[in-house]
Amino acid sequence: MDELKVNKSFWDFYAEIYDEKKADFDKYLRGRSIKTLQTFFKPGQNLIEIGCGTGTESLEMIKYGCKLTLTDLSPQMLKKAYEKIGDKARYVNLPAEYIDSFKIQFDGAYSSFGVLNCVTDIGEFFKKLHTILKPNAYFIASIINRWYWGDFLFFALGITNYLKKRLKGWGYISVDGKEYNAKANFYSVFKIKKIASPYFELEKCIAFPILLPPPYLKPKDRLPEKIFKILDKIESALNGLFPFKYFGEQTIFIFRRK
Ligand SMILES: C[S@@+](CC[C@H](N)C(=O)[O-])C[C@H]1O[C@@H](n2cnc3c(N)ncnc32)[C@H](O)[C@@H]1O
Repeated sequence: MDELKVNKSFWDFYAEIYDEKKADFDKYLRGRSIKTLQTFFKPGQNLIEIGCGTGTESLEMIKYGCKLTLTDLSPQMLKKAYEKIGDKARYVNLPAEYIDSFKIQFDGAYSSFGVLNCVTDIGEFFKKLHTILKPNAYFIASIINRWYWGDFLFFALGITNYLKKRLKGWGYISVDGKEYNAKANFYSVFKIKKIASPYFELEKCIAFPILLPPPYLKPKDRLPEKIFKILDKIESALNGLFPFKYFGEQTIFIFRRK
């Protein structure tokens, strides 16, 4: 698959600078993502991470007491993850498109921060993932949303022009304003729920974030600490409620394998 080759070279290139570029995300959204994983997974479980990147979340899940298999399309990302985690995890260089290569069933799976937006056939992915998870296992994924209300506001204010890409349904990934030839697809919450529905039940979804500005606007640097804390509190009260849960920048999906 040519698209996989293109994506692999992009992510290999990005691996070296990934942690530095995602520092704004790590500053406040990473904690929420890890907290969600630790709410649904239990110490001692055997988990698989799909698109592990540099291993930030798996490191925390290992400290929490889970056993981890880290997978990623990019060998360079896995190398970075190994530098963080060492021999405490198992590493497999495998695109999500071939996730059914595993011959065991895991207690749970997760895939954070837009990995599934990069997968070439997301319907096939859910079908294959189903085969490597035990019945009732959780699959937790954060996926970039197609319908983010903030896009309309930021577009009107001339701050970002992500609106066009999202409405089109896909776009080339950019780093520091430069577009690369790797693609990301954007899905509504309804679409993801429907695609996954033959294999997974959607137990819950959470906007990520809904009120706090997205990390690429560097809210931690721009907003006074007091305002940030107030927004953060309101965020926690609203992000799982209708209609807010459908219109976040990303969405955290809590799926149960059927
Ligand atoms: C935005 S990063 C997220 C990394 C990590 N999950 C995190 O939370 O920081 C996307 C990751 O997905 C990986 N990726 C992209 N396409 C993939 C695919 N088809 N199969 C598996 N991994 C993929 C990339 O190599 C990269 O590590």
